[in-house]
Order: sequence, then structure tokens, then C-alpha cells
Amino acid sequence: MPDIEIEEPDDGVLSAGGTGEPFADVVARRWSRRDFLRSTAMAGLTIYLPTVHNRVVPSAESRLGFGHVASTTGDRMALADGHRASVLLRWGDPLFPDAPAFDPLRQTAAAQARQFGYNCDFVGYFPLPRTSESWRRGLLVVNHEYTNPELMFPNYNAALPTAQQVAVQLESLGLSIVEVVHEGGEWRPVLGSPYNRRITGTTECQLTGPALGHRLLRTAADPLGRTVRGTFANCSAGRTPWGTVLSAEENFHDAFGNRRSLTGDDEDLLNHARSGVAIGASKWAWERHDDRFDLGRHPHEPYRFGWVVEVDPYDPKWVPRKRTALGRMRREAANSVVARGGQVALYSGDDTAFEYVYKFVTRGRFNPHDRTANRDLLDEGTLHVARFNANGSGDWLPLVHGQGPLTSVNGLPTQGDVLINTLKSADLVGATKMDRPEDIEIAPDGTVYIALTKNAQRGVPGQPKVDPANPRVENKHGHVIELIEDGDDHAGRRFRWQLFLVCGDPADPTTYFAGYPTTGGISRISCPDNLAFDHAGNLWIATDGQAEAFGINDGLFVVSVDGPERGRVRRFFSAVAGAEVTGHAFTPNDTTLFLSIQHPGEGSTFAAPSSLFPDGTAPPRPSVLAIQHVGGLAIGSAAAGTSTTTAESPGSALR
Ligand code: FEO
Ligand code: CA
Ligand code: CA
Repeated sequence: MPDIEIEEPDDGVLSAGGTGEPFADVVARRWSRRDFLRSTAMAGLTIYLPTVHNRVVPSAESRLGFGHVASTTGDRMALADGHRASVLLRWGDPLFPDAPAFDPLRQTAAAQARQFGYNCDFVGYFPLPRTSESWRRGLLVVNHEYTNPELMFPNYNAALPTAQQVAVQLESLGLSIVEVVHEGGEWRPVLGSPYNRRITGTTECQLTGPALGHRLLRTAADPLGRTVRGTFANCSAGRTPWGTVLSAEENFHDAFGNRRSLTGDDEDLLNHARSGVAIGASKWAWERHDDRFDLGRHPHEPYRFGWVVEVDPYDPKWVPRKRTALGRMRREAANSVVARGGQVALYSGDDTAFEYVYKFVTRGRFNPHDRTANRDLLDEGTLHVARFNANGSGDWLPLVHGQGPLTSVNGLPTQGDVLINTLKSADLVGATKMDRPEDIEIAPDGTVYIALTKNAQRGVPGQPKVDPANPRVENKHGHVIELIEDGDDHAGRRFRWQLFLVCGDPADPTTYFAGYPTTGGISRISCPDNLAFDHAGNLWIATDGQAEAFGINDGLFVVSVDGPERGRVRRFFSAVAGAEVTGHAFTPNDTTLFLSIQHPGEGSTFAAPSSLFPDGTAPPRPSVLAIQHVGGLAIGSAAAGTSTTTAESPGSALR
């Protein structure tokens, strides 16, 4: 694929200033305990086992030498100097030699099932061969979260979609697994690869774990509650230490409608209301052509979504598993780490206002010597939900049937009921209601970073008030929390926490950047969503919502979590109109960054799109970019002949 056409740069605005008003003082008081917290954690003898690759312990010496770029508006991108971007995979690109070419005017479900899906979110790079650290050949695993049918189809009628349009949408969701190779300085997909695969809204998946066969998981099509047709709403994901993907079904409730057909104090009515299923027509009106999305006909079908789906990219024949032991929620992702005792801990957030942060700990131990020995590790263990205490401590509250309020008295007669009704169970044990938990990532030193994207309802009349972990009224810019497990034990029940970032414009006195001076050249940032660490330990943050917050496009930012530049947020990339930035993933040597540009042009239509990304033609196509340093250095390194700047610069502006 060609590099993206370069056009005139956008004028940026340097956002700096800020005086440290009372809000900042409050945050900083907590922060003054940082060294204590860290020393407490380290005193427990840090034995950190890597997740998949051997990560390098970060040094205080930041390699981040690029001059951070200004924001963009309209249909323009910007990328840090010294880097270049090319389009690797676009919605509709054929993934198989026999797949038809993309034709948006004559799209069919059969064609879409053989092509790259819509609205790419999570991206994971899995090296080939599997046990290698290869950065030149690997598998990209990409989630496809939701559809924008008004941009996918000409003359789309949201109230009356055609059967064909519904079928195409179901095939455009799920996951794509694509072999990619780096040759002649460029990345390209390998069309004939035996690993290439689509998993869609109609692919058979197996239920496993404690809720397998539960009465609420049984439907007319699956009377034993064992097999689900499809996965969708696949937002972000994570990877296991044995090299599989954990794809999170997030806003599954949008697919279901007609809750009004359930009556009285019906169990299904209450449960589906708690999940947010629509009273009338669903968001996409799929129930008009596929009655499994109609609660009046199949009231149990929504229980079969909202799970973590484990997929093995290296084994195309292995049926995707919906792991019920991890609970059912509108989950953003599931990121894992091996605990000191060998158990695997998985951190997740439910991305809904006033929902919760979770941790699942396996009962068994990870076996690094026998991959197949880990096949069923995720089917037994303990799901916990977080309570953030005002004194900076925290508790992981177990969601175990029979313990505390999780009993028949509260309508939870089995562990299966607890897991199917995870939200209700978390309510009952008194977890802390958060400002929309998005991605959670574990740093190389074991510190856990939690993105809270925003929550405009925080503190408004009738809604939960501010608390120390969600400290801002009408939190429209979001924040990031740092969590350190007591004794550095990811399998434990106690932790300590503190605010790392309180996002916004650094001139705004309600922001906080880990104590870094707000006059020091910090990029304004709003709505943190996906997080990822590079192999040097820098935290990269993608945003979703800056158009509403600042009137600018979403972007990718990087911040050091340690050393003299700790807290200094810098914009590395700014995306096009209507798009969020997601799914950033690095090759093992950090020389390539894969990045999803999701829903370019959202808010406009097929006939009048606000974005022509990536080809300069309509319709816009959600795509994965491959970003490389022009000198072959690690992403974020300085451009040749330049030095680090503290002011935002236009960077390399792209169309
Ligand atoms: Fe799909 Fe929470 O973002
Ligand atoms: Ca997200
Ligand atoms: Ca989001």
C-alpha cells in the first residue's frame, strides 16, 4: 500500500500554563506518597514474569526524542517528525486469494465474510514463528467493534435496514486474523496465508466455565446452553501468556431490542434493563430480519454476549471460547500478567458510567513449558471487583456464590448466576462506581494503569458524588489511575492506588500530570481509552472523544511513567475527522507501531462523508496503519538532525 499523501500542515496551538489551584493540591498530596507506595511494593521482592515477550525494565532515560505534534481538525492527520505512516489493512480489503474486491455499492455478506471487517479496534501482533521475537513476520489480530451503516451503505434507512444490510453488518464484526510481513521496508498482508481467518457475528463459539449450560444461556437454537452463534461488539482485547487473544464483547446490548415485551418483575426484564438493552427498537434494528435479537422471541439470547472470547491465532481450527468464569459485562478489554505464584491475573473494566474495575485470578498456574496445559486455565478461578478506599488503599472483593450477599436471597442461586449477572453482584458487594473504565495495562514493573475515559454525570444531582478515585464533577476529560498490588502480588486481595493523570488542558486547574510542571510543554489530552506500553516502558494513550471535549481530532499520546519526564504527555499522532484512535501495538523491537483508525467520518453519511480517509475517496474506510521511524529506529525516537522540543510542532501533516 502507498504511503499516505502529505499535504499542508495544520496550525497547532500550544497548550501550557496552569497554576496548581486547590484541586491540584489535593491530588499532589496523594502523590507525595508515591515513593512510599513504590517502596512498599518493591519490598515484597519483585519477581515479574513477562506476559508474552520479555519486556525490558524501563530506564529513567527516555528515548522519546520526537517533537510532539499539534492537534488537527477536519479531515487531516499529523504524525511526529521522523516517522511515516502507510495503510496496511482497510475495511473491505480481501484477506483470501478468492475474496472479491471491495465494492461498497454491491457489498454482500458472502464478500464481507472474506474481507477485512469494519471499525477496527484492538490490534495485536503475534510473531511468526510463535516462539520467536520476529518483528518482520507475524499475525495481526484485529477486533471489529461496531458498524456505522449510514457510512457503509448508500441510502441507508436506520429504521428499515434491508436483510442484506443486516447480514453484511454481522459479517463485518468479530475479528480478522491476518499474516503480515515486512519486505523492502514496507508491511503487507499475506493473502495466501493458512492463518488468515475471519471470525464474525455468525461464527460458532463455545461457552465454557461455571455458567456452561446454565438455564439462562439456553435458547431455542441451543437448548443445552453450550454453543453461541457469533461474537460482536469486540472492542479491545488482551493476550494470554500462552499466546492467545482475549477479545472483549463490549456494547452487546445495542444489538438487542424490544425489552418492553417482557413484563412485570420478570427476571429477564430486570437483568436486561441492568445491561441497558433498549425498550423498543435496537440501535441497528437487526431484529427486523433476525429474530434472535428480539427479546420478545428469545429473551435469553443477550446472556450469551458480554463475555471474553478466547481465540488462538496460531490454530485456525480451534473454536473460539466464551469464558464465563471471567464474568459478563460491557467489557473493554482483558489484560493479563503472571502473578508471583504462577496464577494468571486478568484486569478488565466495564466501560459504562458508574460501572466497575475487575480482576480475575486463575485457580491453576501458568505452565510456560507446555502450551496445551494452559488450554482450560481460564475456566476456574475467582472474579473480583475493586473498591478504592479514600486512604489510598484498595480491596479486591471476590464475587463468589455463597459469600456475603451473593446468595439465593438476592436471586443468585449459583455461581453461574453470579457470573451472568456480574453487574448486579458487583453492586451487592459495594464496589466503587467509576468514571467509565476503559483499558487497563500492566507496566513492566507490575504497576497497573487504568483509563477512566469520562463521565459527565459524575456529581450531578441524583447521580453518585465525587470520590477520591473519581475526583472531578462532570468529568468530561477523564483520568488515569495507577494501582500497585500489595506485595507486588497480582493474585492478592489488597492494593494501593493513586491518580496518575487527571486529563484536560494543562491550563485548566482541575488537571494533574503526575506532578510534571504544567508549564513544561504538555499536550492537552482528553478521554483516554486504549493503553499500551512499548518495550522500553513508555505508556501510549489513545483517545476517544476529543472532538466533543476540545473540538479537535482524537490522537495518540505518549507519557513516561518514571524518571524526570514522568507525567509529561506528548501528542505523537492526530487522526482524521470523526475517528477515534485505538489498538496501538508494537513489534517486539518497537520499530513499527500498528494503529487502528476507527469510524472515520462518524456523524456523517455515505452521500456526504466528513472524511475521505484513507484513499481520498468515499466512503471512508476504517483502517490499520503501520507507522515506522524513517531511520529504522524505535518509535518515538528523534528525527535525524533534530532534538527534543518542548513546544508542540506541526509535525508531518498528512491528509
Ligand atoms: Fe469500545 Fe470502551 O470502547
Ligand atoms: Ca475503547
Ligand atoms: Ca471509548
